[in-house]
Amino acid sequence: MLLKQHTTTNILSTTVLLLCCCMPLSLPTVPIPVHGRFTFDGNEFAGRDFGNQLHSLPWAVLHPKKVSDVASTIKHVWHMGLASAMTVAARGHGHSLLGQAQAPHGIVISMESLRGEMQVVIKGKSPYVDAPAGELWINVLHHCLIHGLAPKSWTDYLHLTVGGTLSNAGISGQAFRHGPQISNVHQLEVITGKGEVVVCSEEKNADLFHGVLGGLGQFGIITRARISLEPAPKRVKWIRVVYSDFATFARDQERLIYAEKTFDYIEGLVIVNRTGLINNWRSSFDPQDPDEANQFVSDGRTLFCLELTMNFNPDEEAHIDKDIESLLSELSYIPSTLFVTQVSYVEFLDRVHAAELKLRSKGLWDLPHPWLNLLIPRSKIHTFADGVFGNILTDTNSGPVLIYPVNKSKWDNRTSFVTPDEDVFYLVAFLPHAAESEGLQQLQDQNRRILNFCDSAELGVKQYLPHYESQEEWRAHFGPRWEIFAQRKSAYDPLAILAPGQRIFQKSISIL
Ligand SMILES: Cc1cc2nc3c(=O)[nH]c(=O)nc-3n(C[C@H](O)[C@H](O)[C@H](O)COP(=O)(O)OP(=O)(O)OC[C@H]3O[C@@H](n4cnc5c(N)ncnc54)[C@H](O)[C@@H]3O)c2cc1C
Ligand SMILES: *[C@@H]1O[C@H](CO)[C@@H](O)[C@H](O)[C@H]1NC(C)=O
Ligand SMILES: *[C@@H]1O[C@H](CO)[C@@H](O)[C@H](O)[C@H]1NC(C)=O
Ligand SMILES: *[C@@H]1O[C@H](CO)[C@@H](O)[C@H](O)[C@H]1NC(C)=O
Repeated sequence: MLLKQHTTTNILSTTVLLLCCCMPLSLPTVPIPVHGRFTFDGNEFAGRDFGNQLHSLPWAVLHPKKVSDVASTIKHVWHMGLASAMTVAARGHGHSLLGQAQAPHGIVISMESLRGEMQVVIKGKSPYVDAPAGELWINVLHHCLIHGLAPKSWTDYLHLTVGGTLSNAGISGQAFRHGPQISNVHQLEVITGKGEVVVCSEEKNADLFHGVLGGLGQFGIITRARISLEPAPKRVKWIRVVYSDFATFARDQERLIYAEKTFDYIEGLVIVNRTGLINNWRSSFDPQDPDEANQFVSDGRTLFCLELTMNFNPDEEAHIDKDIESLLSELSYIPSTLFVTQVSYVEFLDRVHAAELKLRSKGLWDLPHPWLNLLIPRSKIHTFADGVFGNILTDTNSGPVLIYPVNKSKWDNRTSFVTPDEDVFYLVAFLPHAAESEGLQQLQDQNRRILNFCDSAELGVKQYLPHYESQEEWRAHFGPRWEIFAQRKSAYDPLAILAPGQRIFQKSISIL
């Protein structure tokens, strides 16, 4: 496709030359008036993402100022019909792993430019915030805190956009109780693949509402989201304890997510052959028994760390400490490994950003990230652990490995999100960075071996944030839910204009 270049303009004129069968075909120039602007240079950022492995430049980037800019742009591409290969991708904060927010030769819409007001509404027992989809969760948090409120369900890292995580799921240590972020949304404003602006919820346009949640950007671009809130705690007790035996670790972790009265956040870490683990924690965590902790050896061992928090307000500290003591007394961790600290709620939620700043200062943030996220049925987690931890995975020096269970009753099966077949499943996230190209190959190899192991042991695993090359693989991913996913595509984005970087549907050009 050959395209006329402009520099910066708020009228997009497309003179599109399609090279097909060596026969160029040109379309008439049609202007798209917008309040924001289009850029044609300096768009390298839109061809990159956090994964830093796939790069493809768009033809143009739209920096929208109003929702109508997004609608006009999509409508324009919709009216070009199948004579044009033009596609459109919303880009949140570009924290995808393998090009999911890119649009090769297409239009990338920079959702962060679409700033709007955030509005907190306090109505009886169910307060909510209406937020622009391009807003970062950290900003949503700070805005809600002015009203003493906060969203209920999070991701580990808050410098991600509302629209970006809602297009996936948004899973973290609160999901066992509240479900993922897509279970905590009341209403969305969406621009479909035909350029229509649609407000949807459980009551209104419910099929689009459910489709868009976890919908990988396939059915529309979310422009606003109404997110459920709760009173925000001021402080957090943050606890880590270590196990050497997976079965004991998993039993305790499951017991905690099933319990009526329990912690507010439950995650876990796999640690393989880390030297001086306890020393690494010392800057932020206090061992309850420093002498015993000093004796603890992590070198050469496979360990499992249970990570927990309890929220509280300053006047509740005494009784929170009692609750924690009583919950911990039921657990079978290695006694010398009890570490406790307390921080503000914001410090806890924004913890990965603190790690980001450290990694950035060492040049370790903008590296390739060959991440692998798996959802594993509870009945198969022991087979998985035996095969992978300390076997395929021989060390965790390149980045953390997270593991924690969630109960599916908090997931709405009408959304586009795909879970394993059992009531309870584990999220296992391998989150390495690759320091040099050799390291990248090794990590990619390791991912392949893990996936092959899951396949041959028939574990019934689903990937989270996956990247597939073919529609066949996507069909297998969705399983019996493929049909409804494809139906929704033909209803809301029949020309397959949206989110081409997911590689699920391909726009087919016909030249008549
Ligand atoms: C350090 C780090 C930690 C993370 N931790 C977690 C975690 O704890 N839990 C978790 O669930 N995920 C986590 N993620 C993954 C995160 O959810 C994804 O990266 C997701 O893509 C959000 O990033 P983004 O806002 O930058 O979206 P982008 O990467 O920009 O977009 C993601 C996809 O959604 C589409 N999209 C973006 N905005 C919209 C919109 N408004 N409407 C429709 N489609 C849209 C894009 O086209 C693309 O296909 C983490 C990522 C990083 C980098
Ligand atoms: C999951 O949640 C449902 C509904 O709350 C409950 O009935 C079920 O017992 C839970 N499963 C487990 C294993 O705790
Ligand atoms: C642990 O790592 C060290 C190097 O950091 C290595 O020498 C040792 O063999 C490893 N031990 C095991 C059990 O893998
Ligand atoms: C969703 O779950 C409900 C209740 O568990 C069940 O009746 C229904 O068939 C499920 N729907 C789909 C689409 O799987």
